[in-house]
Amino acid sequence: MFILLLAVLPLQVIHCSSDNNVHETFTYTDRTGRQLECDRCPPGQFLRSRCTATQKSVCMPCPTGSFTAQWNHIGKCLRCSKCDFNQVATSACTADRDVQCECRQGYYNMHGMCMRHSQCPVGEGVLANGTATEDTVCQTCPDGTFSDIASNQQSCMQHQNCEAAGLKLVLKGCIWHNSVCASSEEAKSKDGAEYLKEILPNFFVHQKMNPRRLCQLVYKLNNGRPSCLSDSDSLAQINTWLASATVKQLRDLPAVLNVIQAAHVGEKLQNKLQRIDSHLKGISASENEVTE
Ligand SMILES: *[C@@H]1O[C@H](CO)[C@@H](O)[C@H](O)[C@H]1NC(C)=O
Repeated sequence: MFILLLAVLPLQVIHCSSDNNVHETFTYTDRTGRQLECDRCPPGQFLRSRCTATQKSVCMPCPTGSFTAQWNHIGKCLRCSKCDFNQVATSACTADRDVQCECRQGYYNMHGMCMRHSQCPVGEGVLANGTATEDTVCQTCPDGTFSDIASNQQSCMQHQNCEAAGLKLVLKGCIWHNSVCASSEEAKSKDGAEYLKEILPNFFVHQKMNPRRLCQLVYKLNNGRPSCLSDSDSLAQINTWLASATVKQLRDLPAVLNVIQAAHVGEKLQNKLQRIDSHLKGISASENEVTE
């Protein structure tokens, strides 16, 4: 019995509030000084003429392209808004509701402005894609995974398992590059420096070398010819150089980095090269064992 009463009570409250007519009338004083209480107009309509002592208010529907969202006594509906640049309408303007907008694909709402979803840099992957209201969430790639592109959609990916693919491990992967694998034949015939070509473009991206140093590197590599317009231009020029670099040029790269006072970057590169060489040595040693 008690439970029944309690359940009925909230309904009662809701019922009362919808009976409340306060917002549905307005008062005004006419020219003769008489106070009149007139009906307001419902959402979707506007007040064509106020009530008189003998006539009720006259409401009219909003013309296309205009709306009223509330009980009102305005003489003209409001003009429908337009979605901003980088927004799309999720529902069109109707007589009783303005157009509803949200940020278009690839953008999110930040303090009322639609901003492009951030990209996760090389070495970080997408943990959660951006939405119309939230930016991309990035994470540093966990152990055993990598991300070798800046992207706002791509998550970290598993390092390739060379053995499972019937290949030899040449260089273990890290957060910004995949594991580098090679067949036994390739491992025997190819110089260790050649494998650097796969990882070098991202190496420079991940090192975040300052633009001036990066440009100095381009200058050195190209024998003092071109100039760099931007970071991405420098990187593009380095990639062009890489595509045709000889083994000797690649092996000299750590020394070149030393010369332009990027010794720590040179050291890291030297380190990668040493690890490749030692893996290759291990591969050829074990191959010899098998054939003996
Ligand atoms: C993000 O979106 C891309 C493209 O729609 C999808 O392939 C990927 O799985 C999504 N990533 C996450 C973490 O949901």
